[in-house]
Amino acid sequence: MDTETIGKEDWEELQRNLEATIPVYDRVNRVATFGQVSKWRRMVRERLPEGGRILEVGCGPGSFAEDVIGYDLVCLDPIQEMLKVAENRVNSARKSRGDDPATFIEGKAEDLPFEDSSFDAVCTLFSFRDWFDKRAGISEALRVLKPGGKFIIADPAKINRFHGFLGWLWMRTYVSMYARMIYRTGSHPWKWLTRTYVSFGTTRDYVEMISEEGFSNVRAKVVFPGMVTIWEGTKAD
Ligand SMILES: C[S@@+](CC[C@H](N)C(=O)[O-])C[C@H]1O[C@@H](n2cnc3c(N)ncnc32)[C@H](O)[C@@H]1O
Repeated sequence: MDTETIGKEDWEELQRNLEATIPVYDRVNRVATFGQVSKWRRMVRERLPEGGRILEVGCGPGSFAEDVIGYDLVCLDPIQEMLKVAENRVNSARKSRGDDPATFIEGKAEDLPFEDSSFDAVCTLFSFRDWFDKRAGISEALRVLKPGGKFIIADPAKINRFHGFLGWLWMRTYVSMYARMIYRTGSHPWKWLTRTYVSFGTTRDYVEMISEEGFSNVRAKVVFPGMVTIWEGTKAD
């Protein structure tokens, strides 16, 4: 694993572990982030355009998509079980609000099963870190966006080595302790959170990568107290 890629075997193992987090996914995230995760999701929602067709890549069990109100929403994930849980959850929330159902599609960021220039925004929350080829995924997001469309990523990047060490400490101690308590074993699936974080790059690495792959106006905001970064880029008109 490095800042750009995850090897095939590691990625498949990571996916098995992500699937195993489904029953406790939201609970652990809430505790791990001291409840901040819902604020970060709201910050991404606030960056979406006013309307149109939106793609969430790596929707997981629907934790973000559930609160996306309106829009023509498409959710993609490589894990069938994630899609099943997300579809029930998201579409029952949408039905109760009178929104049209969202569409759920099995697929990978690196090979999006969509036509060129077909979305007004592509967003991805706590998934980019898990992509096995980050450059390929960014370039696919660019391809499927309409000119002027927006790409938004939220993930816990590092500002520098010292900040990365603090992040590692938070995951390795506090988050791991809580996961160990829930799973009643030291070999719980949240160990992969620390593993992918260690090989993930800095906020600046991905500002550069997103720009190099062809996005314009690329910027990043490290959200206080530094547990998450939100990157944004625009597809030129
Ligand atoms: C931690 S969950 C994130 C769920 C949700 N987006 C949220 O806001 O909490 C990460 C998801 O990314 C998905 N994922 C991993 N690698 C991927 C890839 N290459 N392409 C698309 N999704 C991927 C996983 O299957 C998993 O469901």
